[in-house]
Amino acid sequence: MAVFHDMLLQPLGMFLCLSLQLSSATFIRYSSTCFTFDEYYTVTLDIKASSHIYESNAVYSVFVPVNDSVYAVVMKTLDENSDSAGLWQRADKNCYSNSTYYVKDQYMTVLEAQWQAPEPENITEVEIQAFTVQIRALPILSTLKLREKLSTLALAAKIPQSSAFKPFFMITPKSIRLEGLANQVFSSPITDAIYILLAFLTSTLLF
Ligand SMILES: *[C@@H]1O[C@H](CO)[C@@H](O)[C@H](O)[C@H]1NC(C)=O
Ligand SMILES: *[C@@H]1O[C@H](CO)[C@@H](O)[C@H](O)[C@H]1NC(C)=O
Ligand SMILES: *[C@@H]1O[C@H](CO)[C@@H](O)[C@H](O)[C@H]1NC(C)=O
Repeated sequence: MAVFHDMLLQPLGMFLCLSLQLSSATFIRYSSTCFTFDEYYTVTLDIKASSHIYESNAVYSVFVPVNDSVYAVVMKTLDENSDSAGLWQRADKNCYSNSTYYVKDQYMTVLEAQWQAPEPENITEVEIQAFTVQIRALPILSTLKLREKLSTLALAAKIPQSSAFKPFFMITPKSIRLEGLANQVFSSPITDAIYILLAFLTSTLLF
């Protein structure tokens, strides 16, 4: 029985191995190392970024888990219109919409890549995509979103106007009151002088 199993499994294993090699060659096409993937798994590996808050021009560190069966990571960033955005720094290969980083050290467990956000202020959200290219398996796509922090202006617009503008009302009466006080302080010697003058005039007129 065991012999029969071995006889059946060995060719089967060989066939599987061969088909995987063949298929992995068809999944990945590359023209001068710009990878194009016809098929890939969408598994969200635990990719991380130094910050999840999107800011134009900011530089982010992106961490992609790798192992000895991963030989490259293709990074790309898309904006809300699915246009390629920003710049992947110090990549081994920069293609039109993506950048390739090779895993040079087989003991590497995390690949770190730096991405600089673009300048235009009209981008509020981006999706970072990392394609993990494996030697004998389909590439794996993992994504991560960076979103703009809700600005104080946007927050104020969400709060009912009365409470949003309260601080201004609190300042205004105070400054008016202070002005009034100042006027009183400054006007009092004048009114005093007028009273004294009036008193003097009436007294000289009377006596
Ligand atoms: C290597 O990493 C890939 C994902 O990048 C994962 O699918 C695979 O299981 C890992 N292999 C080992 C031996 O950990
Ligand atoms: C990377 O960019 C090249 C063009 O430079 C393109 O042919 C290829 O399909 C892109 N690959 C991915 C995964 O977006
Ligand atoms: C930002 O504005 C430019 C033109 O000024 C436009 O081409 C681009 O699509 C806009 N991007 C977004 C995400 O709205």
